[in-house]
Amino acid sequence: MFTYKSKKALTTFALATTLITSVFVPLQADGAETTVNWTREQVSKIEQTADNTAPYINGEEVEKISSDYHIWDTWPLRNRDGSIAVINGYKVIFSLTAPSDVLPGKRHDIAEIRYFVSKNGKDWELGGTVFPEGEALGSRQWAGSAMVDDGKLHFFYTTTGRKGEDHITYEQRLAKASADIEITKKDGISFNNWSNHDVILEPEGKYYQTMEEGMQGDIAYAFRDPWFFEDPKTGEEYILFEGNSNGTPAERQCEPEHIGSEEFRANHEVPENSKLFNGSIGIAKSTNEDLTEYEIMPPLVEANCVNQELERPHMVTKGNKYYLFTDTHLNKFAPGTSGPDGLFGFVSDSLVGGYQPLNDSGLVVANPKDNPYQAYSWTVLPNGTIVSFLNFFDLGDKTIDDIGHQSREWQFDHFGGTLAPSLKISIHQDKTKIVKEKDPGVFK
Ligand code: FRU
Repeated sequence: MFTYKSKKALTTFALATTLITSVFVPLQADGAETTVNWTREQVSKIEQTADNTAPYINGEEVEKISSDYHIWDTWPLRNRDGSIAVINGYKVIFSLTAPSDVLPGKRHDIAEIRYFVSKNGKDWELGGTVFPEGEALGSRQWAGSAMVDDGKLHFFYTTTGRKGEDHITYEQRLAKASADIEITKKDGISFNNWSNHDVILEPEGKYYQTMEEGMQGDIAYAFRDPWFFEDPKTGEEYILFEGNSNGTPAERQCEPEHIGSEEFRANHEVPENSKLFNGSIGIAKSTNEDLTEYEIMPPLVEANCVNQELERPHMVTKGNKYYLFTDTHLNKFAPGTSGPDGLFGFVSDSLVGGYQPLNDSGLVVANPKDNPYQAYSWTVLPNGTIVSFLNFFDLGDKTIDDIGHQSREWQFDHFGGTLAPSLKISIHQDKTKIVKEKDPGVFK
C-alpha cells in the first residue's frame, strides 16, 4: 500500500554510490534511552508456532457489523489513563470506513471515520460519522485514537492529503479536535460543539522523514496513526505514531546495528535495496493542556534495513514494563528478511528507549500460513484482548498484489471489511502467547 515510484526508486538507488551518514541515533551509553533498531538478526528468528499463530478464520461465516460500509482500522474510546471508556452504559468504537460498493483496494483514498456504540462490547450499532460534514482536515482521514476526560472527547487522527486537492496526494499529518459527548435517547451517544481541528505534528526532517525526502528514491512514506498515551509512571502525555527514519536513500546505508551481532553478520548478506526500508515508531511529548503542542522526540524503534511500515503503534503497561505493539505486512519486510502479516511487540523498563523484541523475534500474532491475509491492524487492549479487522481471505495461491487484477465480484467475495474474531494473549516478562479466540468484534 502507498507505494510510489518503486521501479524508478530502485534505479535511482542503484546509481547512488555516495554514502553519507547513518540515521541511528544513540542517546545514552547505558541503552535505557536509546532508539533501538529491530535487527535483521532478530527478524531471522521469526517462527510461526501455536503460541503466535491465530486460528484460521472462516471469512464467510463472520457477520458484518455494517452492510453499508467496509470497515477496517478500529479503535475504542478510552479514558485518559488508557482504560476502555463506558459512557452511560455504552462502549464506543471508531472505524475507518468506506461505502461497501467501493472496491476494497480503493477504500484508503476515501476513508471516513464513523463510530459504533454497544452496550455489551460485542454487538455494535452504527452511530454515524464522527465529524460534522466538511470539518475534518485532509482529503480523507486515516487512523488515530480517542479519549474522554470529564465529558469531553479528545480525538486524534491522520489528516491525509489536502481538502479539495485536484489529484490525490499521500501527505500525512497528525491532527486533533475536541467535542462534547452528549447522551441522547435516540442514538445513545453523539459528539457536538466541535473545536477547531489543529494539525499537531508534521515530520520535521531530523528524526522523521519528510514527504519531500521520501520522494527522493524511497519506496513509500508514512507519518500517521497518532496514538495518545498517558505514562502511568510520570503522568506525562505523549503521542506515538508511525514514521520513517529521516534522510534520503542517498544519505543512508545499512549499518552493523541494523543487521545484528558480529557472528550473524559474518554469514548474512544484505541486498542493496534493503536500505530503502526505514519504518519507525515515533513519539512526541505534549507540552500544553489542550494537547495541541508537542516536542518531537527520537523514535522508540526503527526498522532500518528491515521493514518499511511499523503501523498503528500502541502501548500496554504491565508491572513496571512498557509493551509497545505495531502491525506490519509480509510484503513490507526488506529483501533477505521475511515475516508474516502480523502483530509485533517490544518491551522496555523505560518509556523512551531500550526496547527489546518480545519472544526474541518480535512476533506476537501471525495470520495462519493457509490464510496469510485474513486479519490486520491488530490492537492490544489493556487486558490482553486483541481486536483486528477481517481483511482478505481464502486467496488460494494469489498474493495481496494479485487482488487488484481479479474481477470485482471476486474482490468483494474475498474481502471482510468488518471486525475479525478477537484474540486474547497472555504477557509474562518478554514472552506472549495466544490463549484464546473470542467472537468477532469483542472489545472486552
Ligand atoms: C493500516 C493503515 C494505517 C492507516 C490506514 C489507511 O491498516 O495503513 O496505517 O492509517 O491503514 O487506510
